[in-house]
Amino acid sequence: MEQPQQSAEQERAAEAAPRAGRPPLRVGMVGYAFMGAAHSQGWRTAGRVFDLPRQPVLAVICGRDATAVQAAADRHGWAAVETDWRALIARDDVDLVDICTPGDSHAEIAVAALAAGKHVLCEKPLANSVQEAEAMTAAAEEAYRRGRLLAMTGFNYRRLPATALARRMIADGRLGTLRHVRATYLQDWLVDPKAPQTWRLRKESAGSGALGDLGAHIVDLAQYLAGEKLTGVSALTETFVRERPLAHGHAAGLSAGPAAGTGAVTVDDAALFTGRFASGALASFEATRYATGHKNALRIEFNGDRGSLAFDLERLNELWFHDAGQPGAEAGFRRILVTEPDHPYLDAWWPPGHGLGYEHSFVHQARDLVHAIAEDRRPEPSFADGLQVQRVLAAVEESAEKNSVYTPIAHPGL
Ligand SMILES: NC(=O)c1ccc[n+]([C@@H]2O[C@H](COP(=O)([O-])OP(=O)(O)OC[C@H]3O[C@@H](n4cnc5c(N)ncnc54)[C@H](O)[C@@H]3O)[C@@H](O)[C@H]2O)c1
Repeated sequence: MEQPQQSAEQERAAEAAPRAGRPPLRVGMVGYAFMGAAHSQGWRTAGRVFDLPRQPVLAVICGRDATAVQAAADRHGWAAVETDWRALIARDDVDLVDICTPGDSHAEIAVAALAAGKHVLCEKPLANSVQEAEAMTAAAEEAYRRGRLLAMTGFNYRRLPATALARRMIADGRLGTLRHVRATYLQDWLVDPKAPQTWRLRKESAGSGALGDLGAHIVDLAQYLAGEKLTGVSALTETFVRERPLAHGHAAGLSAGPAAGTGAVTVDDAALFTGRFASGALASFEATRYATGHKNALRIEFNGDRGSLAFDLERLNELWFHDAGQPGAEAGFRRILVTEPDHPYLDAWWPPGHGLGYEHSFVHQARDLVHAIAEDRRPEPSFADGLQVQRVLAAVEESAEKNSVYTPIAHPGL
């Protein structure tokens, strides 16, 4: 016999319902474009793949345009919509606020959400300035003391199986004494001088350019995998094209089309810097939107006296390892296919050899945050970690302004 068809509303309610016996974790997300879609995927999938102590519920999505945010809710499976983030934060059916907006709104939304008793996940870079990041970190500390509320920064590349394995191997001493870290993050979407001027190219909305967008990722990944912090940097930055056609629409993202008139580019197009780690290891970083032919090429390599590790985001199921203890005649980099069930995150996924992709980092981010909340454990990367990266970015800008002079990174409280 044919089953009666469920109404769209019933289907939505069934989708949003917690799995039997698991208390829900009701998410309210602000922003619904690139990261909004990626985070939706993370929240939607985490509780279906992993056995989580709380079930994420896509409760409310927020954007300023009522029609567009409703369309996003329908596409990504959110139960309700708001057009003002303040209204989302005021709702008592939201446990966690997920911030997927440009950097100029991170601090205001995060501080208000924590004050309203919500856990917070905030996209990177944590803020547009050290001062904002400090205020967010102070608010997170206070909210934890007051109500055990947790705050996490969205450095998702920590949560790929291969990078998580690299972290484990370095922490286990497989590389010995670390000597070098080499990190590049290359994109090419600004090579065409007619590519429009979007929020990413304005200091007041983005804070910085390739530095905060791409550089923040490789700084966080380098420090996290190395297990230590940078102590100083020497930098060059450049803005190659200083005037661009204006983008169509105020919230235009990466795929924005052109509109009438031009606007100034007030952020860096590329940032190159060297750095020194606390142990004495030397590092180099390159973040650019002008690396013709490179779409999203994040590469990072570590060299120690016992071995080396190399990761390339464009081949994200692989980690390359050289064990310096091997006999010379047989030594060399070997590929570890990071798809085994005892590799990080992979016990819940597919059989060996059936690789994962970019989106899975957001599923793992949601998984890890749900565990932290359920277990009352402060998550990493914390807002304090996001603030420390912000301090590195600020030191890079200061060095670049002063003809690349070596600039120490402030570590208050460390
Ligand atoms: N983790 C990553 O790999 C990664 C990748 C890209 C972007 N990001 C970060 O994510 C954030 C968002 O970037 P994106 O690429 O999704 O940008 P986007 O332009 O694609 O989307 C921004 C969204 O924010 C909304 N928005 C802006 N101001 C708002 C406000 N005041 N109230 C409600 N909604 C508002 C816009 O309408 C849009 O939906 C940035 O901090 C960016 O640096 C992270």
